[in-house]
Amino acid sequence: MRHILEELAKRRARARAGGGPKRIAAQHAKGTLTARERLDVLLDEDSFEEFDMFVEHRSHDFGMEKQRVPGDGVVTGWGAINGRPVYVFSKDFTVFGGSLSKAHAEKIVKVQEMAMRNGAPIIGLFDAGGARIQEGVDSLAGYADIFLRNVLSSGVIPQISVIMGPCAGGDVYSPAMTDFIFMVKDTAYMYVTGPDVVKTVINEDVSHEDLGGYRVHALKSGVADGAFENDLEALTQVRRLIDFLPLSNRVAPPAWESLDEPGRDDPSLDTLVPAHPNTPYDMKELITKVVDEADFFEISTEWAKNIITGFGRLGGETIGLVANQPQVLAGVLDIDASRKAARFVRFCDAFGIPIVTFVDVPGFMPGTKQEQGGLIKHGAKLLFAFAEATVPKVTVITRKAYGGAFDVMSSKNIRGDVNYAWPTAEIAVMGPRQAVEIIFRGDIGDAEKLAVREAEYRAHFANPFVAASRGYIDDVIMPRETRRRLVRALGSLKGKELKNPWKKHDNIPL
Ligand code: HXC
Repeated sequence: MRHILEELAKRRARARAGGGPKRIAAQHAKGTLTARERLDVLLDEDSFEEFDMFVEHRSHDFGMEKQRVPGDGVVTGWGAINGRPVYVFSKDFTVFGGSLSKAHAEKIVKVQEMAMRNGAPIIGLFDAGGARIQEGVDSLAGYADIFLRNVLSSGVIPQISVIMGPCAGGDVYSPAMTDFIFMVKDTAYMYVTGPDVVKTVINEDVSHEDLGGYRVHALKSGVADGAFENDLEALTQVRRLIDFLPLSNRVAPPAWESLDEPGRDDPSLDTLVPAHPNTPYDMKELITKVVDEADFFEISTEWAKNIITGFGRLGGETIGLVANQPQVLAGVLDIDASRKAARFVRFCDAFGIPIVTFVDVPGFMPGTKQEQGGLIKHGAKLLFAFAEATVPKVTVITRKAYGGAFDVMSSKNIRGDVNYAWPTAEIAVMGPRQAVEIIFRGDIGDAEKLAVREAEYRAHFANPFVAASRGYIDDVIMPRETRRRLVRALGSLKGKELKNPWKKHDNIPL
């Protein structure tokens, strides 16, 4: 009997050893953790239940039958984050570079299906070179199986990907279909194919960093939703994010006890908006002064910084925040800002997370670059996303709400439930200067006359009261009381019932 038990222990030790001490040392030398060490950080202590640690690949090509490692390059199972269940898979770069065989794919599909069936998020930790070249089409089929589950899970359970090493092929396409992608700075890369293949195919010399480092994806392309200094920070931040999210679309977002008084006023907000309409201010100050305990988890901190997206809590309950940032490009809506916020709004709506929108927007970004890049279609994404969302939506206009951007930013007429404005709000088709230069074109040479016209226009439109007199704004509120009014508004929307007309699915302008 004893030797049978010992055999199990031996087999487990063999699986836990992954690609062996040399490759593990190489992993540590890069400053990264191994697949198993990462799960230790991500999950609550002793909560990990592993599946399929004895699975091996079934390939006989290229001498692969002589190289079998139990577990086959991915560690899968489930565990808990602050007591709530999550399914996980963690790619082991020490085994065939984490590349994907059919057996490896079957392990991932198993946890994907369990996560979907049992209603819990799935978190993938990626450090892998894509399809296992020796397995050919079997590997491609394995990826297609995973991609399909990514798609079917979308909007059912939160899916989070953390890119923790060099990742190529299917190991970037599967993350691309999940809700959030985070990277580790300087050790994680994402590309369809790595620098060697790039050199062979198009004879271009490029570094890992320039092809797919965090500066490419978290700052420029927007493929990644954030980047962290190292493995430890990335994993602890994912734990923090999970605390904001519901387990699935079948249950409400979690509520955590808050010691922050819901009726707390903040007098400093009365002077947040500067006297001059073109002076910038930091919208993040409003967010952190309003949400519980100033706890804000920002999504896409470094990309499209003219709009802010992220999660906070009011009265202990999760909210999604979307806010123009006057500090960057005056908070204008451009292609990237529209894409970033649209995707965030759709995530919130899919998972029943109420949306709070803070508005200070001078309009859509004009110019050839934006038009040639398709601003019309990309801007429409955000309009579409806000309009179709049926979750509670509360909007506060702090300063500018000009033109189409007023409509887009969760306005009353696209089913904003409660729409407030601060007394500093300016709601109009465009800013005073541009407006008078169009409607009084004949006065353009006459600076004095133009100034008078501008003052008239400002007095008439650069305030919230015209909109409030028409009912487009439900109330003009004191900035200091924003938190209290938001908590009360969201409380009043708890029983909201709203359904869109039946359809197979909509056709958002992709
Ligand atoms: C089999 C692989 C592998 C792969 C890496 N390895 N990628 N084995 N299949 N795809 C192995 C290497 O042979 C090596 O084994 C070990 O993993 C570490 O790899 P290195 O190249 O030494 O590491 P590094 O220099 O850090 O480079 C990592 C890398 C590079 C950038 C990921 O290995 C690479 O470019 N791999 C190929 C990427 C790729 O093009 N994959 C196919 C994508 S197509 P030893 O024994 O020496 O330790 C795809 C289709 C999916 O995925 C469909 C998408 C829509």
